[in-house]
Amino acid sequence: MSRRTLIRNGLLITASDEIHADVLIEDGRIAALAASGTPAAEAFTADRTIDATGKYVIPGGVDGHTHMEMPFGGTYAADTFETGTRAAAWGGTTTIVDFAIQNVGGTLREGLDAWHQKAEGNCAIDYGFHMIVSDVNQETLKEMDLLVEEGVTSFKQFMAYPGVFYSDDGQILRAMQRAAENGGLIMMHAENGIAIDVLVEQALARGETDPRYHGEVRKALLEAEATHRAIKLAQVAGAPLYVVHVSAQEAVAELTRARDEGLNVFGETCPQYLFLSTDNLAEPDFEGAKYVCSTPLRPREHQAALWRGLRTNDLQVVSTDHCPFCFSGQKELGRGDFSKIPNGMPGVENRMDLLHQAVVEGHISRRRWIEIACATPARMFGMYPKKGTIAPGADADVVIYDPHAEQVISAETHHMNVDYSAYEGKRITGRVETVLSRGVPVITEREYTGHAGHGVYTPRSTCQYLN
Ligand code: URP
Ligand code: ZN
Ligand code: ZN
Ligand code: ZN
Repeated sequence: MSRRTLIRNGLLITASDEIHADVLIEDGRIAALAASGTPAAEAFTADRTIDATGKYVIPGGVDGHTHMEMPFGGTYAADTFETGTRAAAWGGTTTIVDFAIQNVGGTLREGLDAWHQKAEGNCAIDYGFHMIVSDVNQETLKEMDLLVEEGVTSFKQFMAYPGVFYSDDGQILRAMQRAAENGGLIMMHAENGIAIDVLVEQALARGETDPRYHGEVRKALLEAEATHRAIKLAQVAGAPLYVVHVSAQEAVAELTRARDEGLNVFGETCPQYLFLSTDNLAEPDFEGAKYVCSTPLRPREHQAALWRGLRTNDLQVVSTDHCPFCFSGQKELGRGDFSKIPNGMPGVENRMDLLHQAVVEGHISRRRWIEIACATPARMFGMYPKKGTIAPGADADVVIYDPHAEQVISAETHHMNVDYSAYEGKRITGRVETVLSRGVPVITEREYTGHAGHGVYTPRSTCQYLN
C-alpha cells in the first residue's frame, strides 16, 4: 500500500534553487514538486500533511566523513553506529559515509566485513563506506577494483601516523594509479607524519606536554607540503584527489593553484576549523585535549582562507570528521603527553546548524549551505541525485528547518555519546524540526521517532564531480 506525505508551504532550498513549493512524497521517494498555491500543488493529496509555513524544506545532510566506533590510540571512538546515526538525525543529517579500516597485514575485505557487521541493523539513517588503505600491496590493489564494483568507491590514505595508517609516496602512487584505472577516488590525510614525529619527540624532550603543543608540532607548513606532494603524485598518476580535513591557509593555497590549472583536485574542511582555533587547544587544566584532532586547529587567521575557499569553490565540502572521545577516561590518556591524546572531535549533530549560523553571519548563501553540506558530498561520493537534493525520484530524505528558532549548543542536550561539546554555549539561530529518511519520520517536531535498523547500506557509484 502506498503512503503519501505532503509538505506544504515551505521554502524549498536546494543547491540550485529557492522556491516556495509543495513536496509530495510517495513510497519513500520524492514523487512531485509544485509551486505552492498553484493548481498543480492544490491537486496533491496525501495521508499525512506537514505544514512548513515559515520553515525551510531542505535535503537531508550528507556527512561524507565520520568514524563511528573507530579504534584509535588504544581506545574506541565513543559513538556506535546506533548512537552516532541517531545524533546525526537529530542534527538534520540523513546519510553518513564512514571509514572502514584495513589493518596492516589484513585485507580490504576483512576490514569492510568488520564495518558492515558494526553498522548492519544499527543505523537510524542510511550509510555508506569509504575504505582506509593502510597496507598497499598487490593483493590490496586488486581488491580496490572489487570494492569499486560493489559500491565502495573511495579510498583514504594517510601521509601521517607512521607505523599505523601511514603510506609512503610509492604506496600512494601505486594506489593512485589503480584509482586512475578503476574510477576510485583517493582521499588524502595530508600531513607530513615523518617530520611531525621528529617534532613531537623534540617537544616532549623539552617538557612540552600540554595539548597546545599538538597544534605547534603539526605545523601548517607540513600540511601544505603534504598537500602539494599529494597533488603532484595524483597528477603523475592521472587520478583525481580529494584532500580531507583541510585546516591551513597554506594548504588551501595549494588546492587553489591546482584547481586553477584545471586539475581534478578537491578539498574538504570541517566545522571545527571554521569556528574553533588554537585558543581552544590552549584552554587550561588539560581542557585543550577536547580539541585535539588532526589536522589540528589553527590560529584564528586561517579561518578567513577557509571561508573564502568555500565561497570560491576551492573547497567543495564540509564534513565533520566526527570521531568523539570522552574527556573523562579517553582524552585523559594523554595527560602528561599530548601525543597520547586520542585524535578526534565530536560534531556529527552540529554540522547543519553551524553552517546555517554561517549563513546567518553572511559567510555563505543559503544555497551554498545546501551545496557544501548535501549536494556536493552526494556527487563527490557517487550518491546523487538519490541523496543530496529534493527532486522527483530522489530518496525522500528531507529536513524541515526552522530558520528563526534560537538554540544553545550543549553536552547537556546533545545526543552524541560523548561527555562534552566542542561548541558548549554557542548560540545558533536555526534548528532542525522534523527529519524524514526515505519518507519515514525519524525526528518529528523535535522528538525522536526513528529506530535502529531503519538506515540501510548505500552502495555508491564513482565520483560524479569530475571536471
Ligand atoms: O583527528 C582525527 N581527524 N581523527 C580521525 C582520524 C582522521 O585522521 O581522520
Ligand atoms: Zn585524517
Ligand atoms: Zn577522519
Ligand atoms: Zn523503519
